[in-house]
Amino acid sequence: MQDTKTALIIGCDHAAFSLKEKLKDFLISKSISVHDAGTNSEDSVNYPEFGIKVASGISAKKFERGILLCGTGLGMSMVANRFPHVRAALCSDVFSAIMSRQHNNSNILVIGARVTGDILAEAILNAWLDTPFEGGRHQLRLDQFDNVNDLI
Ligand code: RB5
Repeated sequence: MQDTKTALIIGCDHAAFSLKEKLKDFLISKSISVHDAGTNSEDSVNYPEFGIKVASGISAKKFERGILLCGTGLGMSMVANRFPHVRAALCSDVFSAIMSRQHNNSNILVIGARVTGDILAEAILNAWLDTPFEGGRHQLRLDQFDNVNDLI
């Protein structure tokens, strides 16, 4: 990210608590401030509650970018993408994370902790943080997200 002091918001369910703690340490080591929306243990919780906390913060522009973690990443991406202006990208490889920024201007990175190992997750996050949106024709395509009724 351009401004290394920009605050991120991060959230997870019980399946990804351990990964959340590791990625928080990684963010702090990069001097990126992070708001932790929970969960804060491995006790079973319902992932939508934490997905909603993060996605609503992005949708309301309280935070520029966010991270969501669950077992597969599927549930978190499904719930996050229900919110206006949220573009949540489920990534299990570095290339997709880079493309999700360059072409899709993703504002939430989603990772499945039962799919992606900790070291790879850190590399995915690092690439996602450092890759800018390319704009241009990609912005025109993103604008179409808000005009679905005109395009049916
Ligand atoms: C929790 O068991 C699991 O369903 C959740 O972490 C996630 O994978 C949902 O999509």
